[in-house]
Order: sequence, then C-alpha cells, then structure tokens
Amino acid sequence: MPLRDEGVVPALECRGLGKTYGAGRIVLAHLDFTLAPGEFVAIMGDSGVGKSTLLNLIAGLDRADSGDVIIDGSAVSHLDDNAATRLRRQKLGFVFQAFHVLPHLTLAQNVALPLLLNELPMAGALEMLAAVGLSGRGDDFPRQLSGGELQRVAIARALVHRPKLILADEPTGNLDPDTAHEVLGLFRTQSKATGAATIMVTHSEAAAAVADRILILSDGGLHASLGRNAFSGSAPDARSAARSADDAR
Ligand SMILES: Nc1ncnc2c1ncn2[C@@H]1O[C@H](COP(=O)(O)OP(=O)(O)OP(=O)(O)O)[C@@H](O)[C@H]1O
Ligand SMILES: [Mg+2]
Repeated sequence: MPLRDEGVVPALECRGLGKTYGAGRIVLAHLDFTLAPGEFVAIMGDSGVGKSTLLNLIAGLDRADSGDVIIDGSAVSHLDDNAATRLRRQKLGFVFQAFHVLPHLTLAQNVALPLLLNELPMAGALEMLAAVGLSGRGDDFPRQLSGGELQRVAIARALVHRPKLILADEPTGNLDPDTAHEVLGLFRTQSKATGAATIMVTHSEAAAAVADRILILSDGGLHASLGRNAFSGSAPDARSAARSADDAR
C-alpha cells in the first residue's frame, strides 16, 4: 500500500496506543494502525474488546495513556486544546448507531452544522442531502423520516465538510438487513466520492464485507481478518458484496 515513503500522508496513524481503565483493566496495549487516504476499513471483534474505546481515542473523546494519534499528518498530542479541537472539526466526521440527528433542526440545518462550525458555504448541505437520495427533503424534520433515512442524513452530515476521516460505530446496528445493505452501499460510495478514509466498527459480517479491509480487534491487537472476504472490486455494490460473503459461509 503506498504510504508515507512514497510521499502520501496517511489519513490516520495510531502509534503505540495504550488505554487502561481503573486499576489494571488493560483495553488497548501498544496498538499500531495505519489507514491510507480514501481507504474503507471495517473493524470487528468481541463485545467489550475495545472497539468503541479505540474510536473514542481517535476522536479525542477519551485520552490515551500512551502513544500517538496522527490525523492527516498532525500528531494530536502535540497540539494545544484549541488546535486539537479545530483539527477534529475540520478533519473528522462521525456516524453513530443511534443516528444523533438533532430533532428540532430541519434536515438541511442538521447537515449544515459542520459547515457552520468550519465557516464554509452553506449551499453544500443541500447538495450533500441530494447525494444521499434526499433531495427536496431539506425542510423536513427528523420525526418525518425512517431509520434508514435518518442514517442517510447522518452520513450526509459526516461527509459535508469533506473530512479526511470518518469514524462510524455500528452505523447499521439499528437498521433492518435490507435497509442496512442500502445505507452501507451509499455510505461507501459517498465516502469514496468525497475522498474520506473510513473506519467502520461493526458486528455484522455482511456490513464488513463492503470494506476494502477487515481487521479484527482482540486482546492481541488489531489483525487482518483471515477467511473473510473484504470487498475489493471497484463497483460499490454493498448488496452483492454482502451476498458473496453470505454465500461463502
Ligand atoms: N469509561 C469507562 N470506564 C471504565 N471502563 C470502561 C469505560 N469505557 C469502556 N470501558 C471498558 O472497556 C472495555 C472496552 O469497552 P468498549 O466499549 O470499547 O468495547 P466494544 O468493543 O466497543 O464493545 P461492544 O461491541 O459491546 O460495543 C469494556 O470492558 C468496558 O467495560
Ligand atoms: Mg462499542
């Protein structure tokens, strides 16, 4: 994979990341991980192994005990609080299992939030809504939408400011299988279209099958998945990728 030695700055590097809770609950120990620009990676692993902890450390929602998080070439630990906040606001996008769309804002206002925070032109919000199949719905409120539509709004909001890195924690965990396939296909297509690298934590093999690479987090660290068929073609068709993974079992 072409990385720094060929002049390409990784979207994300984790170097020697360690996190212990309380008196000796070691969750992450010296974890190393590199994500290329535009790469879509799925992380799987048993419940409680530390997947959300890893995302929280990358997002700056929690602090590592040791090691470095380097986002698009900037080591977060070397920045003061203001600069770290600015870096995250510009470079990161988030998609959560429970959507976290704000109920009192219209869809356009929800998607426009990252533009507002980054002082970017607001017109991008309607374009991004259209890109996720919700053109003409900008004035609607979240209560008028299905779960799948709400997650599309969340995907539009995560991508609208063209971040380098998207962090998604079980983004299809609240969706039925058909809707999950549809939303995942769109998620992958739009991540690739905007050039964002994506880390998607999931318990679903069908969901993970849309990724370029599947990694398993275990007590031993992050490892390439053996025997699982990561999506490697150029056509971003989540449904057929998921089917081929199902067929392989
Ligand atoms: N703030 C915290 N304080 C203490 N322990 C925590 C805290 N956050 C997480 N843990 C512990 O760290 C471990 C990893 O939790 P984490 O939420 O990262 O797991 P996960 O892999 O995301 O699991 P799941 O698949 O169930 O979401 C668990 O044992 C959890 O109890
Ligand atoms: Mg979790």
